[in-house]
Amino acid sequence: MKNGLDDVVATETTLSDVDGLGGILIIRGRSLDELAGVVSYEELLALLLSDAFDEKPDADGLRRRIGLARQEIFRTIPDAAAPLLTLPVTDAVRALTAQFTDGDDLATALRLIAAPAVFTPALIRLKNGQTPVAPDPSLSHAADILHMLHGRTVTPQEAAALDTYLVTVSDHGMNASTFAARVVASTHAGLVSSVLAAFGALKGPLHGGAPGPVLDMLDAIGTPDNAETWLEKALDDGERLMGFGHRIYRVRDPRADALMQALRRLAGTGNHGAGRFKLAEGVEAAALRILARRKPDRPLKTNVEFYTALLLETLGFPRDSFTSVFAMGRVGGWIAHAREQTQHGRLIRPQSRYTGPRPIKAA
Ligand code: ACO
Repeated sequence: MKNGLDDVVATETTLSDVDGLGGILIIRGRSLDELAGVVSYEELLALLLSDAFDEKPDADGLRRRIGLARQEIFRTIPDAAAPLLTLPVTDAVRALTAQFTDGDDLATALRLIAAPAVFTPALIRLKNGQTPVAPDPSLSHAADILHMLHGRTVTPQEAAALDTYLVTVSDHGMNASTFAARVVASTHAGLVSSVLAAFGALKGPLHGGAPGPVLDMLDAIGTPDNAETWLEKALDDGERLMGFGHRIYRVRDPRADALMQALRRLAGTGNHGAGRFKLAEGVEAAALRILARRKPDRPLKTNVEFYTALLLETLGFPRDSFTSVFAMGRVGGWIAHAREQTQHGRLIRPQSRYTGPRPIKAA
């Protein structure tokens, strides 16, 4: 039995592949460096969802229909959202999505893609005492998310940075949240149930919940000079360094590079967090040195969450929304996997080995 199902192949897929030794992510036959910063999120969705439904809209069709779905979802935001505002943004987004009618069709998929993109900025603004900003369906998905967040015209560089992020995190093999989506899809419960299960799995700090704690770590370290001492003490106290290590990658996560480049491009366009970037580079270098010395048998490298934290902070998202921003991108992968599972898979029903007591048989 494999604790954590390491190396267990749970399914066949045509969607994505993660080569942990080579540091290569392939989505639908293209490597991440052919996609991140090159194609738009809508183009990526057209690629990911090309076999998912009878209808096969191209990227332009998806852009138009997701824009309309954003408008439709915006109208469903309850006037009395107050009870939700006490929750972290990510939990409130999940609660609002749980109201959707389940289904297995493209229309349900488009609503699920629009949901985190609309609910997240609206809830952030409501929590700040601001009025939600209505979507503009003429904008790209990424540009409109930032427009709804900030209530202003966003720069092409900001929109490009978020677009790169959404593409970069859109799919990633049999990660925990995608597996959760496939398990639920295998019961034919529908896309809403599958996506909600995945969303629940994503929020844990060992998966998509790490970027908030990455920023807490940077705040606590404060200056690059302090990194070495702080990180050594955290490891002495038995803590894990957030944003480092991965179940599959034994080399640097290629998504970390894609996001670092997106952040560099953004930092070059103004005063976008240049000091923070320097601190992060110092902390990353110190963490890699220390981890290599203290855990020589386990190569622990930078993962996607480290630069996610910086990119999303620079774009103006608060920490309690980071997981729902991750969901804005990963939802495409969840839907594609859920559909692949229902189309070609069987009910997922593994076994367990019982190690508890047995009943004592009456003589
Ligand atoms: N800092 C310090 N030590 C670590 C770290 C880390 N970030 N990651 C793993 N280790 C150590 C463990 O303590 C363990 O050491 P030991 O054998 O001396 O006890 C060893 O490495 C192996 O740990 P496992 O838990 O078996 O490794 P696993 O493959 O399950 O870990 C995980 C993957 C959960 C991502 C882990 O590296 C981690 O907790 N990282 C920090 C949280 C994080 O960044 N999460 C985001 C992941 S990316 C994503 O899901 C989108």
